[in-house]
Amino acid sequence: MFASGWKCWKPRAVSSVRLEYRFTRGSTLPCMCLVGALLLSSCSGFQSSLDPNGSGAGAIYGIWHLFFWTCAAVFLVVVVGLIGAMLRGRDEPSDAPPQMSPEPARERRLDRLLQVGIAASVAILLVFTLASYSVGTTLFYSPENALDVELTGHRWWWEVRYPGSGFATANEIHVPVGTPVRLTLRSEDVIHSFWVPNLHGKMDLIPGQTNRLVFTADRPGTYRGQCAEFCGQQHAFMALYVLAAPEQEIGRWRERQSRPAAEPASDSEKRGRQVFADNCAVCHAIRGFKEEGKIGPDLTHVVSRLSIGAGGLPNSRGNRAGWITDAPTLKPGVYMPRFALPPEDLQALLDYIDKLQ
Ligand code: CUA
Repeated sequence: MFASGWKCWKPRAVSSVRLEYRFTRGSTLPCMCLVGALLLSSCSGFQSSLDPNGSGAGAIYGIWHLFFWTCAAVFLVVVVGLIGAMLRGRDEPSDAPPQMSPEPARERRLDRLLQVGIAASVAILLVFTLASYSVGTTLFYSPENALDVELTGHRWWWEVRYPGSGFATANEIHVPVGTPVRLTLRSEDVIHSFWVPNLHGKMDLIPGQTNRLVFTADRPGTYRGQCAEFCGQQHAFMALYVLAAPEQEIGRWRERQSRPAAEPASDSEKRGRQVFADNCAVCHAIRGFKEEGKIGPDLTHVVSRLSIGAGGLPNSRGNRAGWITDAPTLKPGVYMPRFALPPEDLQALLDYIDKLQ
C-alpha cells in the first residue's frame, strides 16, 4: 500500500531550492485511498475525540456530528445550486441583450428561493445555538459526589494529588469508572492545557488562577492526554495518561500509593538510597525517606508508573538509567541535569529505584 502511495509522486524538476511533483496517470485512486485510510485511521482509538469514552467527550462528539453533517449538507446544496446556475448561464446566447428585469414568474421564484434560504439559515443557526448551550451545560455540570483530584502543570510534566490521601503522583491520573472526577487545575509556571480527547474537551491551567473540569470515564481503559497549549520547548512531549478501572481496583491502587517507600534490603539498594540522598533529593521526594524535594516528580512509587519524562519513554530500568545519565539529550530543555555517576553508584541507584514499586 505504501509502495503504491509513494509511486504516485514523480519529481518533475529538482533544484537545491525547489522540488516540484505531479501526479502520474492512473495513480490518483491509490493516492486517494492512502489519504482516505490515513484520515480514517485517526477517527478511532488512542487520543481521539472521535472515539468518546466519557460523558463530556460524548456530548462533544454529538455536537461535532450535528455541525459537520449540517454544514456538509449546506455545502452540497450550495455547490449543486452553483453548478446548476453555471450550466443554465451557458445555454443563453451570448449576443442577446442583457435583461434589465426578469419576467414576473421568474422573479417570484427567485424571491421564494431567497426566503427559503434565509429561513433555513436562521433555523440552522438557532439549532446550533441551542445545541451549543445544551452541550456547554453538560460539560460544566459539577455534581456533589465527584472525586476531587488536583492537577498542577509544570514545564514539562503533570503533578497529580488526591486531596486527603497524602500522596502525589506524576503524569497519570487513576480514576474509577463511572464516577465523576472533578479536576482542580493550576499551573506553577506558564499556561498549559489539559486535554484527554477520549474523555473530555480542553481546559487551561493558568498561573494564579484555579480552573475546574469534571469528567467521567464510561469504560475502563488507558486514555492518553496531551498538553494543548504551547508552553515551551517540550510542549509536544508533555503527555499524561488517565487510567480508568473498577472502583475496587482503584481502591487497591490508592492503598499501595499511600504506603511509604519500600526500605532497601540489599547492600546495593542501601548504597543506592545514599546515592539518591546525595544527588537527587534536592529536587525529588521519596515519602518516608527524603521529602523536601519539590521541583521534580515524587518518586515514592515511581516504578508503578507507565512512563518517565511525561510520556517520553516507557518506564523500564534501561530507560531510567538513560534518563538519570543524560536527561537533557532525551528531552532537550528539561530542568533535570546530567548525572555522570560512577557505574557502581548508577547500578546501586537503579537497584534502589527498582524497589519503589
Ligand atoms: Cu504544557 Cu504545552
